[in-house]
This record gives sequence, C-alpha cells and structure tokens, in this order.
Amino acid sequence: MKKSNASMKSFASILGLFVLGVVVLQSCKSDPNSPGFEYMPDMYRSPSYETYGTGLEPTGASARVPAENSIAMGEDNLPYPYPNTFEGYEAAGMNLKNPLAWNDENIAKGKANYMRFCVHCHGKKGKGDGTVPTNSEYPNPPAYDAGLKDLPAGKMFHSLQWGKNLMGSHASQMTKTERWEVILYVQTLQGKTANDLMNVAPADSASAAEGKEQ
Ligand code: HEC
Repeated sequence: MKKSNASMKSFASILGLFVLGVVVLQSCKSDPNSPGFEYMPDMYRSPSYETYGTGLEPTGASARVPAENSIAMGEDNLPYPYPNTFEGYEAAGMNLKNPLAWNDENIAKGKANYMRFCVHCHGKKGKGDGTVPTNSEYPNPPAYDAGLKDLPAGKMFHSLQWGKNLMGSHASQMTKTERWEVILYVQTLQGKTANDLMNVAPADSASAAEGKEQ
C-alpha cells in the first residue's frame, strides 16, 4: 500500500513536470517578434490601420484621396473673404495688405505677369494706352500714375479678384501670390517707392483715395 502510494506521487510529479515543460516550451517560438500566447490579442495589437500603411480597399493604401471640393491648406487656396460689393471693395482697401516684400525679385516676377495679362490694355508704362484701346472702341483704362495714383493695394487686389466694370476678373489666371507680385509692379508704375509704402498706413491711403473720389 505504502509502495503504490509512493509510485503514485512520483508519477504525479513526472506528469506535473511534463505539463510545465509543455507550457514553458510553448512560449519558445521561432519568430523572435512573436509575443507568444496571447489571451486577448486585440488588446495587444490594435486592429486599426497604421497611418500611411496598407490595408484598405480598393487602392490598398490607408490614406484616401481628399473628398471632392476639399480646400488644400495654404494661403493661396483660402476663400477670398470680401464680397463683390461697394462695402467689400472699401473693406479690402482698408484691410488687405500685400504679404510680399518690396524687392527686385518680386517686382520682376510681377512685371513678367503684367506683360502677359495686363499690358495689352494698360500699356507698357500703365498709361492706359495698350494695343486693345488703341486699336478698338475699347475705352482707355485710367493711367496708374494719374487717375489711379492713390489707389491702395487692397483695392487693386479686390478689382483683380472680382473684376471692375469693363476689366474682367483675373482670379482664374493668376494665384493670389502672383496677383500680389503684379500689384508690386503696378505700384512702381504709380510712381511709388519702397519708402512711400513703408510710410503710408493702409487707413491713410484709403481715405486719401476717398478724398479724391469726392
Ligand atoms: C481687357 C482690358 C484689361 C486688362 C487685360 C486688364 N485691365 Fe485693368 N482695367 C481695365 C479697365 C477698363 C479698367 C477701368 C475699370 C473701371 O474703373 O471702370 C481697369 C482698372 C484697373 C485697375 C484699377 C481698379 C480699381 O479698383 O479702380 C487696376 C489696379 C488694374 N486695372 C490692374 C490690372 C492688372 C494688374 C491687370 C493684369 C493682371 C489688368 N488690370 C488687366 C482694363 C483691363
């Protein structure tokens, strides 16, 4: 009786060792990245897609193309805030400031686009004597250095955005940055210098222009 009890005990301990060995060996996998036995795998590894990873149908990329009519980030793509009204024109004249620096490079870029988009009406020196009014019934635009001498940059931008009377909008031909460049060049044709622009506050130039109109 005693003997069989002892052999039962040693059998139980051998079985115990065997089970322990299986459990221990179970955690030894050939894949070094394998976490071994996982009780609730979703808690260790999230089922969500990795940023810019793969996995989504139909293209396989986790990043989708933007929805239709999305607006790309960046100053050039923001909607223009001033409406096409007299009040919008005045507000643009007061508040809009050229974000670009007055330097030779920007003025030269503005001149290049002026020669493409403006010269045929406004003329080389901005006197309103381009080939279109010279050779047709189209009226001469006002000269930059006379009728438009005190026009502030914000009003120019507004008129390029929406157009003004016989001049059409130039919003689809040029980006906002290109329009601000062309405005720098137009200001040289107004006879302005870097000094004038630094010393003229937008409110002053707007009221000067208004004073002229009356
Ligand atoms: C089809 C001919 C034509 C073209 C092209 C044209 N303009 Fe004009 N522009 C005019 C006429 C006409 C006016 C006068 C509008 C009015 O006040 O009735 C004018 C007015 C302006 C004014 C004064 C706007 C205001 O608020 O009083 C500016 C500034 C101006 N143009 C700049 C430009 C620039 C810069 C370009 C090129 C990007 C350009 N224009 C292209 C015909 C043109």
